[in-house]
Amino acid sequence: MRRGLFISFEGGEGAGKSTQIKLLAAKLRAKGYSLTVTREPGGSPGAEAIRHVILSGAAETFGPKMEALLFAAARSDHIEQVIRPAIERGDIVLCDRFVDSWRVYQGSSGEIDPVFMDVLERVSVNGMMPDLTLIMDIDPVEGLERATARRGDDVADRFEKETLAIHRSRRKAYLEIARKEPDRCVVIDASMPPEAVENSVTAAAFGVIQRRFAALGSQVQEA
Ligand code: TYD
Repeated sequence: MRRGLFISFEGGEGAGKSTQIKLLAAKLRAKGYSLTVTREPGGSPGAEAIRHVILSGAAETFGPKMEALLFAAARSDHIEQVIRPAIERGDIVLCDRFVDSWRVYQGSSGEIDPVFMDVLERVSVNGMMPDLTLIMDIDPVEGLERATARRGDDVADRFEKETLAIHRSRRKAYLEIARKEPDRCVVIDASMPPEAVENSVTAAAFGVIQRRFAALGSQVQEA
């Protein structure tokens, strides 16, 4: 069994992932857990360099396969440089987006051969799947409104600027992953009032954390 625990946060634009990660991180730190808080694309120096290439839209002209390869390269570096060492140290890793973003954004576009996607996923993830994935679910109309408000005068990134139909199909793709992998995924209704969202996230996360650390024989604290 892993010493640490890996939790990823997923969802469409403006679903509130970053806010919830901050809130959960503060609670876990207050309870004395050792944390690594990270994000994708990025999270390691190599992957952050690739993040810039992808989100600026510079790689878009080279086609979806090239973009998928860049995401996978960034993920591989991030896992081997940051996530795996943290899990081996016994940290709880909170990651803003992970492989489900890739399955949803690149995979469900229908532009890339699913076998190519599968092979690339296996090679890049290299066994490091999350123990828990919180899928923040929100109607894309509301999510995009929030993302626009948060962005202020900055321009929309490569993915935010896509059509509502694409954002809707991504929402469906996330829910489909949750349906297929109920042991790993918990869907959180991100349209609830902020406190209710926070309570749901806390309950799901602490449930898994307590089971893991109890199984490892560590002292368990109540949420
Ligand atoms: P970011 O600004 O970090 O997004 P957010 O604040 O919405 O989490 O930008 C990351 C973008 O990259 C986001 O639109 C989703 C997309 N993405 C992919 O297409 N594939 C991936 O594998 C990952 C990790 C992200």
